[in-house]
Amino acid sequence: MKVKGKDYRAIWMEGSSVFLIEQNLLPFDFKIYEAKNYLETCQAIKTMKVRGAGAVGEAAGFAMAQAFLEAPEDSFGEYIEKAKKEIEATRPTAQNLFYAAKRVFKTAKKSIEPRKAAVAEAQKIADEDVEISRRIGEYGNELIKDGFNIETHCNAGWLAFVDYGTALSPIYLAHKSGKKVFVYVDETRPRNQGARLTAWELKNEGIPYVILPDNAGAYLMFQGKIDIMIVGADRIARNGDVANKIGTFEKAIVAKELGVPFYVAAPTSTFDLNCNSGRDIPIEERSEDEVLYQTGLSEQGNLAKILVCLPHSKAINPLFDITPAKYINGIITEKGIIQPREDLIIGLLS
Ligand code: MRU
Repeated sequence: MKVKGKDYRAIWMEGSSVFLIEQNLLPFDFKIYEAKNYLETCQAIKTMKVRGAGAVGEAAGFAMAQAFLEAPEDSFGEYIEKAKKEIEATRPTAQNLFYAAKRVFKTAKKSIEPRKAAVAEAQKIADEDVEISRRIGEYGNELIKDGFNIETHCNAGWLAFVDYGTALSPIYLAHKSGKKVFVYVDETRPRNQGARLTAWELKNEGIPYVILPDNAGAYLMFQGKIDIMIVGADRIARNGDVANKIGTFEKAIVAKELGVPFYVAAPTSTFDLNCNSGRDIPIEERSEDEVLYQTGLSEQGNLAKILVCLPHSKAINPLFDITPAKYINGIITEKGIIQPREDLIIGLLS
């Protein structure tokens, strides 16, 4: 997608470095971060300089490729095995992270030129994801009628998936094809990916939007203001349960109660058949500081971190929740839209 007229992906690799849009600085500052080795890329994933299920997948693939490039001849096997473990330990929930690290590792290991093969495979995953996101957009666009008001949660746009995105891709395509759309953006506490990142993406594309407090969704749906809700996914279990940003589950319950269609947009690489249900999906917990403090632009124009609660309070910070399949009208994938049912999921993946 374009930023100030120039084409960007959320993350890419050049030589042995990984470059990424520093998402912790958006929307206040637009900077590119260079991770010079796999450990720096791991650190960028952990600190959420790069975030979003797809983008952390691509980051993991590139980090794996960096490890292959860096591995010394005399301890090659040992080095890449250790790197794979470290990459997989960066964040636990997004399935794409494990998918990409494993795919690069396996392909490169059986190649006669492993270093070259690792870089090529990681690039291939990123290129495929661009095409996959575009196709998700095409299928999802069929659900969007002219004049629709769409609610979305967190950021599942191009920043979260190299290009186009998942939940936002149908919205971009609808807008491009001349439909009038309006987006209600959940702010998505505690890290505010909606208010900061989704709003930034939509503004860049000239799509009208408004940010709403996370707890206002039910009221808006009750008022009949939302025609459809589309969210992304971090991992989808065999039975169609979906792990996505915390707060998704309660939106889905309200949507069902009030008859608002609720869709999940995700590529087939986000499904994990090893998880029989959502209860098997590991849920990341992060520091309580992300809840207790908020970061934003001060009146002096600096990024500032401030305490927003009673001093010395404790907080909990689970990052994702599980939306049971029964609340989901459909999953928009690059192969079409399916109902979240085990037989259909297995058919889709085979
Ligand atoms: O913790 P994050 O910001 O990495 O969370 C990921 C997300 O943005 C979502 O939960 C999203 O909806 C799926 S990403 C395509």
